Amino acid sequence: MIEEGLVKIDTSNVFYNPKMKRLRDISVAFLKAMNIKNASLLDATAASGIRGIRYKIEANIDKITLLDINRNALNTIKENLKINNIDANVVIDSIEHFANSTRERFDIIDLDPFGSPVPFIYDIMKLVKDNTILMVTATDMPVLCGVDRNACIRFYGSYPLHTYLCKEVGMRILLYKIIQTAAQFDYGIEPLLGISDMYYIRVFVRLKKGYKYADNSIENLGYLIFFKNNEFSYTRSISKISSLYKKGSQISGPLWLSNLYNKDIISNMLLYTNEKIIKTINNELDIPFFYHLGLLTSSLGIGSIPIKKVIEAISSLGFNATRTQFDNMGIKSNITFNQLIKLLSNKY
Ligand SMILES: C[S@@+](CC[C@H](N)C(=O)[O-])C[C@H]1O[C@@H](n2cnc3c(N)ncnc32)[C@H](O)[C@@H]1O
Repeated sequence: MIEEGLVKIDTSNVFYNPKMKRLRDISVAFLKAMNIKNASLLDATAASGIRGIRYKIEANIDKITLLDINRNALNTIKENLKINNIDANVVIDSIEHFANSTRERFDIIDLDPFGSPVPFIYDIMKLVKDNTILMVTATDMPVLCGVDRNACIRFYGSYPLHTYLCKEVGMRILLYKIIQTAAQFDYGIEPLLGISDMYYIRVFVRLKKGYKYADNSIENLGYLIFFKNNEFSYTRSISKISSLYKKGSQISGPLWLSNLYNKDIISNMLLYTNEKIIKTINNELDIPFFYHLGLLTSSLGIGSIPIKKVIEAISSLGFNATRTQFDNMGIKSNITFNQLIKLLSNKY
C-alpha cells in the first residue's frame, strides 16, 4: 500500500511507477486550475486507478471511469475505490474495443500508456466532444528525439531532430500527431500545457469541434530547418523550405509551430503546486525553439557565461528573453542569431 497526494493505493498485480508522482501531482494541479464543474473523466490506462482516484478526490471531478485492458487490474481498482471510499465505473477492456462499443463522450481523458500513445489516439477521438480536455503522455523519447528516426516517421509521420532541440521538437511532433488524427474527426486543438521532464513528454490540449478549428490547427503546422552552426529557422509553408535551406541543414516536421501554453491556466496552477517546472513554464516565452548558450559559447571559443547575465543583457537591448523547461542552458528569445552572437562576442 502506498500513499500519494490525498489517496492510499494498493498496487499489487498492476503497474505503478513512483517516479511519475510529480507528473500525477502536476496533472491534479492542472485539473484544479481548470475547475470544470460536473465533469466526466476517463482514465483510459488506469492500472491501479491512481490517476482517476486522485482526480476525483483532489480535483473534485464528478464522475470517473477507470479503464484498463489488464484483468488483474479489476480487483486492485475495486479495492482502491473501497479504501478511498469513492465510486467509479470500472471497465476491463481495451481502449480500441471500448471506444467502438460505448456512446459515452467524456469531458476529460487521461491517456498514459507504456511508450507511444500513437496506437490509441485514433480510438480516443471517438470518445471526445467539443471542449474535451485530453492529457497524453509519451515515454518513447528515443523515437521522438530522433535516436530512432525511422520509428518516428513510422509512428508519428514526422521527421524528428536529433539535436539539443529534440525534446521541444518531440513535443511539437506529438501535437502534430494529435492534430492530424483529431482533424479526421473534424476537431482542432488548443494546447494548454506541455511538460518535458525526465524521460517523458506530456501534453494537455482542449479539443474544439468543427472543421474550421481543424483547419486552423493545420495552418499552424510547419517545418524546422536546423543549420550546422546551431542556428535555426522555421516555416509554415512547405514551398519556403528550399529558400531557407543551407548546405548541411537538417529538416524536421511536420510539427506544431504555435503556442504550447495557456498562461492563465498555468498561473492558476501555481495556487496548487510549487513544482519548479511549472514556475519555469509560467515565465517561459511561448515561442518556438531556443538558443543553447553552452553550444554557442563553445563554438565561439569563449568561456562560459552565467545564463542569468546573458538573459539580462538580451533584455537590456529591448528583446524578450527567458529560460526554458527544455534545457538548463536554453534561452528563448526573439533576438536574432546574429545579434546574439555579437552580444556573446562582446560586440555590443
Ligand atoms: C503506464 S501504465 C498506466 C499507469 C497509470 N496511469 C499510473 O499513473 O500509475 C499503462 C496501462 O495501460 C494498460 N493498457 C495497455 N494497453 C491497453 C489498451 N489497449 N487498452 C487499455 N489499457 C491498456 C496497461 O495494462 C497498463 O496498466
